[in-house]
Amino acid sequence: MVDMSTSLSGVVLPNPLMTASGCAAAGRELGRFFDVSALGAVVTKSIMLAARSGRPTPRMAETESGMLNSIGLQGPGIDAFLDKDLPWLVEAGARAVVSIAGGSVAEYAALAARLPAAGGVSVLEVNISCPNVESRGEVFACDPIAAGAVLAAVRAATDPAVPVFAKLSPDVTDIVAVARACVEAGADGLTLVNTLLGMAIDPVSMRPALAGLTGGLSGPAIRPVAVRAIWQVHAALPAVPIMGVGGVRTGLDALELVLAGACAVQVGTAIFGDPTAPVRVLAELAAALDERGFAKFTDAVGFAHRGGGR
Ligand SMILES: Cc1cc2nc3c(=O)[nH]c(=O)nc-3n(C[C@H](O)[C@H](O)[C@H](O)COP(=O)(O)O)c2cc1C
Repeated sequence: MVDMSTSLSGVVLPNPLMTASGCAAAGRELGRFFDVSALGAVVTKSIMLAARSGRPTPRMAETESGMLNSIGLQGPGIDAFLDKDLPWLVEAGARAVVSIAGGSVAEYAALAARLPAAGGVSVLEVNISCPNVESRGEVFACDPIAAGAVLAAVRAATDPAVPVFAKLSPDVTDIVAVARACVEAGADGLTLVNTLLGMAIDPVSMRPALAGLTGGLSGPAIRPVAVRAIWQVHAALPAVPIMGVGGVRTGLDALELVLAGACAVQVGTAIFGDPTAPVRVLAELAAALDERGFAKFTDAVGFAHRGGGR
């Protein structure tokens, strides 16, 4: 039996498998497929201050290698989340990684001030792949200074006992520079990666497939991008815990992210085809580690870096 426990900046989890933000709402819909407390944690859909209806439809398009979505940040807002969703997760015995999103630094700080104070939040994940309404809609995660400003404000507003993770976009030239800026601003860890910006055109209508024109690409196509981002950031900042996410469908996919340096793995798009994917991947990852002679999950984290790479 492999010891699957892991730790995220002092928060110990029984195992490293999680849902990815936006792929299982606040976890409740998975409750009829499996016991959500069996996962290391449930990552909730990014919460904003106010309720929002998201972007116009159609907002999902399938490609051969992955999915495009332009859902936008649809959700009930912080009040409903604190009233209904968070208590459900606590009651179910799940550990909650709560994702927040905002359009300004002040909005992120306001969310951070309310959430951990409510109790039941194991980790705060800061989704910075959002347009900055105060700066011509430039995405926070694409600018180290703007990303750092969000993380500094969130860290200052959050209970010191709750680790703050910055979720980064792979759509940048130098992801290490953004990672470093977030850590220097006070982030305790990083989540790598969010979706890549993509687009599909319907050959029948000969028009863009998504009403929002562009969307986030997720699924198998982006796994090599996630592995690369985790590898680069772990090499540059080896002491910083990383939650890996991007195209994981099997235990071996998860293992790849772990060997690159992830100490937790989130499963997103795979849930749409198989709601039990996160628990299946957990069992497959444990078996794969056992076969490779690992007694502890944590011994495999960053293993591919040892011995100088290849
Ligand atoms: C439908 C959908 C909605 C998503 N919503 C969010 C979100 O609200 N916040 C966020 O940080 N990431 C969101 N993501 C990104 C995922 O959490 C994840 O980073 C990405 O999909 C890559 O993982 P995957 O290939 O396993 O899906 C969403 C992804 C999908 C497919």
